[in-house]
Amino acid sequence: MAQPTKMVIINASPKGEYSLTLQYARYLMMHEKDVVWEVLYVGEELTDTDFDHTWFHASLDLIEQCEAVLWATPVYTMLVPYQLLRFLQLIEQEGRASLFVGKYATSIMSCFHYYDHLAQHWLQATCEDLGMHFMEGLSVDDKDLMNPTYRQSLRFFMEEFHHTCLHRLPVIRQSKDLVEDFVPFKPQPSASQGEKRGDLRTVLLTDEVGGEGNLSAMIKVFLASYPNQVEVVDINTFPYEGACQGCLRCELVGECDRKDGFQAFYQNLVNSCDVLVHAMNLEGRYLKPVWKLFLDRTFSNGHRTSMMGKHTCYLVSGPLDQLPYVRQFLEGKDMVGRENSVGVISDDLCIDQQLEALIAETALRLDRSARAHFQKGANFLGIGGMKIFRDLIYGMRGVVRDDHRFYKQRKLYDFPQRRLGNQLFNLVMGFAFLFKPVRLEAYKRMKPLYIAKQKQLVDSGRL
Ligand SMILES: Cc1cc2nc3c(=O)[nH]c(=O)nc-3n(C[C@H](O)[C@H](O)[C@H](O)COP(=O)(O)O)c2cc1C
Repeated sequence: MAQPTKMVIINASPKGEYSLTLQYARYLMMHEKDVVWEVLYVGEELTDTDFDHTWFHASLDLIEQCEAVLWATPVYTMLVPYQLLRFLQLIEQEGRASLFVGKYATSIMSCFHYYDHLAQHWLQATCEDLGMHFMEGLSVDDKDLMNPTYRQSLRFFMEEFHHTCLHRLPVIRQSKDLVEDFVPFKPQPSASQGEKRGDLRTVLLTDEVGGEGNLSAMIKVFLASYPNQVEVVDINTFPYEGACQGCLRCELVGECDRKDGFQAFYQNLVNSCDVLVHAMNLEGRYLKPVWKLFLDRTFSNGHRTSMMGKHTCYLVSGPLDQLPYVRQFLEGKDMVGRENSVGVISDDLCIDQQLEALIAETALRLDRSARAHFQKGANFLGIGGMKIFRDLIYGMRGVVRDDHRFYKQRKLYDFPQRRLGNQLFNLVMGFAFLFKPVRLEAYKRMKPLYIAKQKQLVDSGRL
């Protein structure tokens, strides 16, 4: 008789056995015939700074012996939790990355579908880099498992994955290998001219400063051109007690469960600064992992988009043109947060004088935009993201009280059913449109009617 297939669930949730995602993963495994499986609680084990090395080495042995991996991860800050990046980083440092080669993998992700596509893409591409055969995974919410029809699809999905793995069938690849094309940036920034102004609080967050890398050089050019004083904060130096534990104490009680002062540091930063500059190194298919640690911890500020109406800019070093999903993460962060970013500048699209001139000009534009209180509005990334947040917070308003207050005060509950004029319009039109002659008349007059108010304003010459 054939041996059952050995599988491992790699659970990235810091909540361990209380993980929602894990319930999905268990469901998939329990209803699939001829599999044996174990769970690795990577998220829980790697949440605190210190971790159990015996557990770590035993985990690697378990992965080596298995035939397939089911990644079970929540979406955290538009990606997977920092703990999963850390796990892969530790494996790399241990020289054991080859243990994934040739294995089949898929994923189950639970979330509110807020930028989950970025997490899905990152995970698949990262697995492909590791030499795995990755079958497209599923993204689920907290209700899907309660739906019998969806459970049928879950079982089918798992059966397909097992079948694919047993027969070593081909799977669709999503990414290409990253190409190393590093070009050193050697600018000659002129010494900064004149007194720097102190009336716009500007903070520059970075993972590299005063070093030899391109990012340090980019920062130097920025600082030389920017006409205001800047506080430079190296995010590596914060005394993190550990990663976000996903405990939601911040949402329920208002305080982060960690006692390292990060929540106060971050809230003070976003509440008091006018301009926030991010200088970031890419690593693998994302930013340097310390950014993930940092960004997950910013969740202690809830879903409050505290940078709203302020101004930002992003300096990025690394192959950004090969990582469009990282660009989309930065753009999404800007758009949902209404940060009014003046742009994402990367050192892979232009070098030396061109890059130097671009950074210098962007620094000046950032100053002008902040002083003019320029608001750039949002595209699909921002509008779509905000609708997910709005519905989520409204649906839990009795529990997430600080978020609810923030959304109410800023009139972020823009549900269409709340606009009385619109309701009345639809009531009247709903009746009138029962009659074809009315619909035909509306069709004839639609073009001028649609732009009537806007045209009147433009024609009037008013400012
Ligand atoms: C720090 C943090 C960040 C989160 N970020 C996202 C996100 O970007 N997108 C999303 O859809 N859900 C996000 N969520 C919600 C979780 O993905 C969701 O609650 C998930 O089901 C938790 O799964 P788990 O119980 O397995 O940890 C976040 C939750 C936390 C605690």
